[in-house]
Amino acid sequence: MNTFIDKKSILNKTELFVKKQLKNDYSGHDIDHIIRVVKNAKDICKEIPKANTFIVEMAALLHDIADHKLLGDKGEKLIKKYLDLLNIPNNEKNEIFNIATQVSFKGANVEDSKLSIEGQIVRDADRLDAIGAIGIARTFAFGGAKKRKMYNEKESPVFHNSFEEYKNNKGTTINHFYEKLLLLKDKMYTLPGKEMAKKRHQFMIAFLNQFYDETGYKTPKMKTDL
Ligand code: ADP
Ligand code: NI
Repeated sequence: MNTFIDKKSILNKTELFVKKQLKNDYSGHDIDHIIRVVKNAKDICKEIPKANTFIVEMAALLHDIADHKLLGDKGEKLIKKYLDLLNIPNNEKNEIFNIATQVSFKGANVEDSKLSIEGQIVRDADRLDAIGAIGIARTFAFGGAKKRKMYNEKESPVFHNSFEEYKNNKGTTINHFYEKLLLLKDKMYTLPGKEMAKKRHQFMIAFLNQFYDETGYKTPKMKTDL
């Protein structure tokens, strides 16, 4: 069997599988998010020739299936079951599983787990889609989908110390910028990722300044300063 065609058909099949799983998502984790993350990841890969692009693409496609916000614990089982059906070596399956289940941000004060270069690429690619214009749009979409307030003068942003705290927080959308989005530029792993994050970060700062100008609202000081 021709490996190239085989891998390509596995990627196509995986995209369809993911599309079906995420079809009811309106919180910024739909198939379009996945496709953008795959594209970011491929762009990063162009500058990192040693990376295994098949593993990168597969993990990028599957990374939100295991997300706590979407399917909870069921997601991990689902990825395992799906990977088990594929005709690829076990070490590749394990690596795709590891990356897809570990890319997630888990709180400002929670250290990222260590990942291979392929994992670092997927993590950066996902983080890029959390910042810039698209990051802003997704964050407000998420806030609306979860019925959160956009801002509230009485609530300060919080740096979460554990994944449990981060996962259970019901903060405002503007606070999420301080709790996660503005921190990401310093939490990128690859050089191309770091470079791509700079412009997106600046755009968020400009957005927030304009937002404060128009609304007269100012984010209260952080409870825990960095
Ligand atoms: P990851 O993609 O690393 O799993 P998150 O679970 O933090 O990251 O969330 C992904 C995206 O969902 C965020 O970048 C943001 O757009 C949105 N989001 C998550 N939590 C919130 C929140 N509390 N308020 C607004 N948007 C949120
Ligand atoms: Ni994602």
